[in-house]
Amino acid sequence: MLRALLILGCVSLAWAQKYGVGKPATAADIAARDYSVSARGVGLPPGGGSAKEGQELYVKHCSTCHGLKGEGDAEQGNPAIAGGVGTLASAKPVRTVGSYWPYAPGVFDYIRRAMPYDNPRTLKADEYFAITAYVLSLSGVVKPEERLDAKSLPEVKMPNRDGFVPDPRVAGKKPVY
Ligand code: HEC
Repeated sequence: MLRALLILGCVSLAWAQKYGVGKPATAADIAARDYSVSARGVGLPPGGGSAKEGQELYVKHCSTCHGLKGEGDAEQGNPAIAGGVGTLASAKPVRTVGSYWPYAPGVFDYIRRAMPYDNPRTLKADEYFAITAYVLSLSGVVKPEERLDAKSLPEVKMPNRDGFVPDPRVAGKKPVY
């Protein structure tokens, strides 16, 4: 599969050159498409928003799939994104954004990159901040009025931040954030 893709990639590049279509991506092209935000929040955009502001946006863009309280819809394959905090080590672990995800900037990054599932990357940075705040508030991680932005989001301590153990195969190596 990978080989087929590589061959296809080379062929299409050759075609592009032969027929004069397309152009090599410049550093600016790549920067414009680079959505990456690190666990510590490097790469977060300007703007911000609170859970209070995010509630209406969440209802409009997210609740049909994830439910009004982030409970999800297992039958439809839409994961729960709130609740379950403190259940991971129990007999009935409930894995959600609130109970599992270690870093808040990662939550923002994922939502901005991939959601709404049927219409990804269509909202503004302020809206993604507000929706992220709302999702986190559903698990009691942030308060309704708390404004999340490039400075405050990395300071949010996710409940399961310390629930991960180092992989013994890379023990001693510094993690890259
Ligand atoms: C059309 C249905 C749909 C809509 C609308 C939608 N989602 Fe999702 N969402 C999904 C599905 C399906 C997945 C699982 C995707 C996967 O695992 O690849 C998902 C995954 C997620 C996850 C990751 C959950 C985890 O722990 O792995 C988050 C967070 C999330 N969605 C938030 C949102 C937010 C916020 C919105 C609104 C901006 C939204 N979603 C809108 C269907 C939807």
